[in-house]
Amino acid sequence: VIALISATVLAYLLGSIPTAVWYGQAFFGLDIRNYGSGNAGATNTFRVLGKRAGTVVMLVDVMKGFTATILATLLWRYQFIDADDVLTWKLVFGLTAVIGHLFPVFANFKGGKGVASLLGMVLAIHPEMAVVCIGIFLLVVIASQYVSLGSLLAALAFPVLLLLRIFGEKESPLLIAFGFVVFLIVALTHQKNIGRLLRGQENRTVLIRLRKK
Ligand code: G3P
Repeated sequence: VIALISATVLAYLLGSIPTAVWYGQAFFGLDIRNYGSGNAGATNTFRVLGKRAGTVVMLVDVMKGFTATILATLLWRYQFIDADDVLTWKLVFGLTAVIGHLFPVFANFKGGKGVASLLGMVLAIHPEMAVVCIGIFLLVVIASQYVSLGSLLAALAFPVLLLLRIFGEKESPLLIAFGFVVFLIVALTHQKNIGRLLRGQENRTVLIRLRKK
């Protein structure tokens, strides 16, 4: 029990690392949340601080979700949990990290939208599906120039493609339920983006370099 509680706390602290906020403060002396879309995520970092900053933030945020999720594999290896329970604990630790990313204790509980950390989770749980969803995301972003639309459609595709069994085998009901939770989280954190998309006012991916909100 102590191992499970410690891993959950660790997952939350890991998810709480506010990569975009700290990168902006350390290298540009600013709070990314006052610029661009105001989001503390890779997209807005790319938009405001440039390609290198956006790439670093994206990789670290994906790693946060991935690492928290595979804590379950580690606990199974050291026999703290049974093989049957690994998926459940992957979901618990991964989603705890995502909650940390959305509400980081290290940045006044105002974090990002969870797309990169959710991708890290999916990479750890179902890598083939992660690759398909990245493909969908990239196609939509390239075609529309809206990252938010790419995030929303990739998050919707995830549970739908699990249900359609595109890899042949039957996916576990728990994983499919998780798929819908992913879509729900992304839809909830993108409410303002959805409004802007519908009004035709969404921010494009182009760099806007340090323009205040
Ligand atoms: O991952 C977040 C992305 O989907 C939207 O970011 O900054 O355009 O709100 P942003």
